[in-house]
Amino acid sequence: MPKISEVNAIQVFDSRGIPTVSCKITLDNGISAFSMVPSGASTGSKEALELRDNEENYHGKGVLKAVSNINNKLAPLVLGKDPINQFEIDQILIDYDGTDDKSKIGANSILAISLAISQAAAKDQNIYLHEHFLNLYKNITGDSIKPSIPMPMFNILNGGEHADNNIDIQEFMIIPKGAKNFSEVMKWSSEIYHNLKNILQSSGFSSSVGDEGGFAPNLKTNEEAIKLILEAIESSNLKPGIDINIALDCAASEFFDGKNYILRSENKELSSSEFINYLEGLVNKYPISSIEDAIDENDIDGWKLITEKLGEKCQLVGDDLFVTNEKILIKGIHEKIANSILIKFNQVGTITETIQTIHCANNNKFESIISHRSGETEDTTIADLAVGLGVGQIKTGAPCRSERIAKYNRLLWIENESSNILLNE
Ligand code: PGA
Ligand code: ZN
Repeated sequence: MPKISEVNAIQVFDSRGIPTVSCKITLDNGISAFSMVPSGASTGSKEALELRDNEENYHGKGVLKAVSNINNKLAPLVLGKDPINQFEIDQILIDYDGTDDKSKIGANSILAISLAISQAAAKDQNIYLHEHFLNLYKNITGDSIKPSIPMPMFNILNGGEHADNNIDIQEFMIIPKGAKNFSEVMKWSSEIYHNLKNILQSSGFSSSVGDEGGFAPNLKTNEEAIKLILEAIESSNLKPGIDINIALDCAASEFFDGKNYILRSENKELSSSEFINYLEGLVNKYPISSIEDAIDENDIDGWKLITEKLGEKCQLVGDDLFVTNEKILIKGIHEKIANSILIKFNQVGTITETIQTIHCANNNKFESIISHRSGETEDTTIADLAVGLGVGQIKTGAPCRSERIAKYNRLLWIENESSNILLNE
């Protein structure tokens, strides 16, 4: 039985050049594994706490306290443990913190260890990380799951908090739902992405990119973004609605002022029901099959209304709404709001709790979508997580920028090496 013999954390940097936590776990048989923790910009208010130093250096964003928490407080708790026991180790970390939102030790400290433990366990067993996650799902929940390659939502046009342009909706995504395998998913998305770049450039728009690799032009309306994407799909000889669907992440909390939804680009102030009519108009006109955070996280009446109106024909995803938290998800299920959940492990802080939330979604016929954060690293764990937990969908940015592409490249390798694991349709 291998034992954890060393835990060592340092401060590294994410894709925005902002400090984040990295952890190395070493076993007594010499095996070692690394993790790096991602970070959001348009965060939900109920997310687990990301501990920052709040001191002068790094504009307050240093994570040296979180690093020190790992090296000095958490390491002694996990030394000598067998990394296969993810549940037991995560529980020790959760109990030691003792708060609901991991605010004593920081979710970034706890997650860095939790991720590195799972990497070490997979390496020690000489199995793929996705195979280890498949086993963990069974061990932690008692239920079996079928692994699959997730269908991506590629965020090819960025707005909101992730870009300097005027567009209100944060993410305009394409879903290559008609592709026969993951290689074709990548071919289509890459071609559409580059056709969109050509269209933007030839129309005099900026083709510089936002935090998640999507283009970030200034446009007159949010709808114009959809029209440009449709043009790029058609110029790739693909059919909107048949080969490719469109998904939106409104991240609506970012433009809700407590009363109205303020669309700056269009000079509109819409009440909750007016904004829902606005979205319904887009869904009726375009092949939009998924909308995330359509409504502010506290506008529960708005969520009920949009779920009644669009819940049958559209995937309505709760991100800031549920923050990967099983208790908040259960409350939402009772309130009949949304029909899907975005899964970001740093919103909750451990692999175990992430698996438990996905299990809860599965039991309640909610779809899950594994997601990156806008501040990412070269860590590709979410690709294996999506495969091993059979989650079916992944959202990890544009087919551009290495911190996004790293996850898609990992999925290409999984497809190449595991011919029995098929693309989810
Ligand atoms: P974030 O954005 O990582 O900045 O929170 C991603 C999202 O809202 O889905
Ligand atoms: Zn979101």
